[in-house]
Amino acid sequence: MKVGILGGGQLGRMLLQAAANYDITTYVLEKDPLCPAAHLCHHFTKGDIMDYDAVYNFGKQLDALTIEIEAVNVEALEQLEKEGVKVYPTPAAIKIIKNKILQKQFYSEQEIPTSPYYITQHQSDLLQHLDFLPAVHKLAEGGYDGKGVQVINNEAEIELGFNAPAILEKKVKIAKEIALIVAMDAQGKTIIYPPAEMVFDSVYNLLDYQLSPAKLEERILWKAQAMARKVVTGLKSPGLFAIELFIDVNGDVWVNETAPRVHNSGHHTIEANYSSQYDTLLRILLNYPLGNPNEILPSAIVNIIGADGFTGDVYYEGLDEVLKMDNVFVHLYGKLQTKPGRKMGHVTIISNDYLDLTHKANKIKHTLKAITK
Ligand SMILES: Nc1ncnc2c1ncn2[C@@H]1O[C@H](COP(=O)(O)OP(=O)(O)OP(=O)(O)O)[C@@H](O)[C@H]1O
Ligand SMILES: [Mg+2]
Repeated sequence: MKVGILGGGQLGRMLLQAAANYDITTYVLEKDPLCPAAHLCHHFTKGDIMDYDAVYNFGKQLDALTIEIEAVNVEALEQLEKEGVKVYPTPAAIKIIKNKILQKQFYSEQEIPTSPYYITQHQSDLLQHLDFLPAVHKLAEGGYDGKGVQVINNEAEIELGFNAPAILEKKVKIAKEIALIVAMDAQGKTIIYPPAEMVFDSVYNLLDYQLSPAKLEERILWKAQAMARKVVTGLKSPGLFAIELFIDVNGDVWVNETAPRVHNSGHHTIEANYSSQYDTLLRILLNYPLGNPNEILPSAIVNIIGADGFTGDVYYEGLDEVLKMDNVFVHLYGKLQTKPGRKMGHVTIISNDYLDLTHKANKIKHTLKAITK
């Protein structure tokens, strides 16, 4: 089988690492020939995943096609689907998710709890919603790594808002942020991974550190799982989905957003779970039976983020010290250049003991740095 991936970042790279276990030929479409996934696929095509012709011509040679980022040309995927290429997630599902306005409307239609919102077209529209503040302004399309997200606490901060189609959603008093990965095969069978709990870096709005399985009250976990399953069955698309949820200070659960693809919150499943998120997506694309999503051991993920004040050829300070630690797995994404805030790699820690996980996570955060020489 010929299987293609739109996008050649670290998620594509890890998908290809899992793909090496199966009897398939892999293809990647991406603009940058030095991207993290380029040298791990059988066939690399240089091209723009937002361009109709590039995506169509790439896809028509394939049996199955998936994405590692949702900013892709959906019209080309729709045409490929019509012509019989298996496209998972479906173009219809990608269309809903890639636009945060359509995504929010989808939750409302499906009666899936999500924080209340208004749709805005211009920054000046925010003036009509002063009573609604504090709120979070989110670009409908084109945001990444938290860069399309702006908290607006009061009238003075309106100048920070976006001058393009966006949603303004009520700021949730968050007690915990979790993510649930749900996978659905072509027969409609679903599996769900144990919950991951995240802590964020307030400077870059990037994930700081993550634990899985998250320790949650059973009642809250059941609610979150039911909501996450409803997102996927509502999208009616085979594939693998990560649903980010907020648990607020009252114990209410809200869907934040969905990613129709393998996700940062599932990196640990490579070492910590029986079947990784990457393996699961491949099984679905290949129409193989689903595997076991459960954990072998609890785990933590520490992201390796480009350190402040360093731009240029990357050097990993403290790598030896981290590699000496027990049950710690380093993943460097092969990016040649670092810059402040760039995702350069991650480290997974596995242990039966949550204290051991948090202790090692903190140690790694303070030891391993992506800098320049
Ligand atoms: N309504 C909200 N209330 C409170 N905090 C929020 C709200 N929406 C988003 N945030 C905070 O901002 C973070 C980023 O928001 P969101 O996940 O919507 O954006 P994103 O651009 O997809 O970011 P990423 O790609 O990092 O997931 C959330 O993880 C959360 O910490
Ligand atoms: Mg997010």
